[in-house]
Amino acid sequence: MLSRKISSDSHGQDSSYFLGWMEFEKNPYDEAKNPNGIIQMGLAENQLSFDLLESWLADNPDAIGLMRSNGESVFKELALFQDYHGLSAFKNELVEFMAKLRGNKVKFDPNKLVLTAGATSANETLMFCLADPGDAFLLPTPYYPGFDRDLKWRTGVEIVPIHCSSSNGFRITSSALEDAYLQAQDQGLKVKGVLITNPSNPLGTTVTRGELDLLIDFAVAKEIHIVSDEIYSGTVFDDDEPSFVSIAEAVNERDLGGASEAVRTRVHIVYSLSKDLGVPGFRVGMIYSEDEEVVSAATKMSSFGLISSQTQYTLSRMLSDEKFMRKYVGENRKRLKKRKEMLVSGLKGAGIKCLESNACLYCWVDMRVLLRSNTFEAEKELWKRVVYEVGLNISPGSSCHCSEPGWFRMCFANMSEETLHVAIERLNAFAESIKKENVKPNNKQLSSLLVRNYSRTRSLTRWVVQLGSDDHRETDR
Ligand SMILES: Cc1ncc(COP(=O)(O)O)c(C=O)c1O
Repeated sequence: MLSRKISSDSHGQDSSYFLGWMEFEKNPYDEAKNPNGIIQMGLAENQLSFDLLESWLADNPDAIGLMRSNGESVFKELALFQDYHGLSAFKNELVEFMAKLRGNKVKFDPNKLVLTAGATSANETLMFCLADPGDAFLLPTPYYPGFDRDLKWRTGVEIVPIHCSSSNGFRITSSALEDAYLQAQDQGLKVKGVLITNPSNPLGTTVTRGELDLLIDFAVAKEIHIVSDEIYSGTVFDDDEPSFVSIAEAVNERDLGGASEAVRTRVHIVYSLSKDLGVPGFRVGMIYSEDEEVVSAATKMSSFGLISSQTQYTLSRMLSDEKFMRKYVGENRKRLKKRKEMLVSGLKGAGIKCLESNACLYCWVDMRVLLRSNTFEAEKELWKRVVYEVGLNISPGSSCHCSEPGWFRMCFANMSEETLHVAIERLNAFAESIKKENVKPNNKQLSSLLVRNYSRTRSLTRWVVQLGSDDHRETDR
């Protein structure tokens, strides 16, 4: 009775990435109301600088009250506005903001910008513009689990993995690119492009200039597109090498001879305010492309997911406040760095290492020391224990299509410092118990160890009691 599309499971909702969210929703941690609940570490949300946004809004009530600074109402104008090109004032502010995040090394033209309802919509729209059903895009692994939905589900486009390995910090290599290309050909798929996230989700690292050059050479040789999702570009908190280099800058600086113009039109940038400004609910995303046809088609498609004019108005007022934005970006970076360091040093105590990172809202954590064996079954087993016994929703590497078992993404910016502290203590206790026993401890053994190590922590003690309960064991599937 229903369409094949909705009857298929290609959405990816059954991945452990989304399953962990469902478990969290059933039993969310709350320091006061539910201290034994699950802490959400699977959500790349930035709440660290919300106070700055709120204080700006308190100082500028007319921006949300839909008034001009002279007190004149823009309510009617905005309520009637329905042009899918978006408010030009907003687009002008956005391109300025994007240029500033890239140290003004690149300039963006507002006429080449398409507004979309978040980066989710931007990525899908680009797939509709660049590929036909059955064509392939190559993606370095590990990659953001949402891409299975965003790039493939409705478009019919296929993802072919570029397998990256921990041996070189998951960097993209020329042989990995060639292997992926061959794999696609073996599967009878026409490769239309490579899609990267820079900075990377889930690695939390910026893509090096060497990797960008490699990608550009590859795209020139194969005559394919490059899509660079730069949604985390404003979160780079360490500018030591490798600093953030946008694909726009890398392409501009290359002397590509006769191929130059063609390559430029095959490079497309995706961006959004969901992470850098921490406003995913506002659904503000965009595509930037030098290809006029792509801009024109994507603009028509944006009718299916426009940003409300009210949101555009309020944010254009905020972005135009240069002094505030400079302060926001600087302070946000500082806070992210502090949080990341808190997680890294907290896990170090338990002998758990993180991939060295310089951006984003999470760490890519090496938990191979806790695996029973070097398999994805063991990773899944560990993941289940961390969700149900330890009470942390973290994202296993397998949900990010990582080719090596034992890696997990842990988010640190969607919670208070106190909650992150509880999460670290829980993980430390768990790691300690596994190491001491060197076998899977039962809940009773784990509880007694935890009580011995951490009975001083009130919330943790309450959580340990929960571990021993029969109700909990029943949910431990
Ligand atoms: C790399 C990447 N692209 C796109 C998205 C979706 O962002 P948006 O909320 O703007 O749709 C996310 C969200 O986590 C992401 O990490």
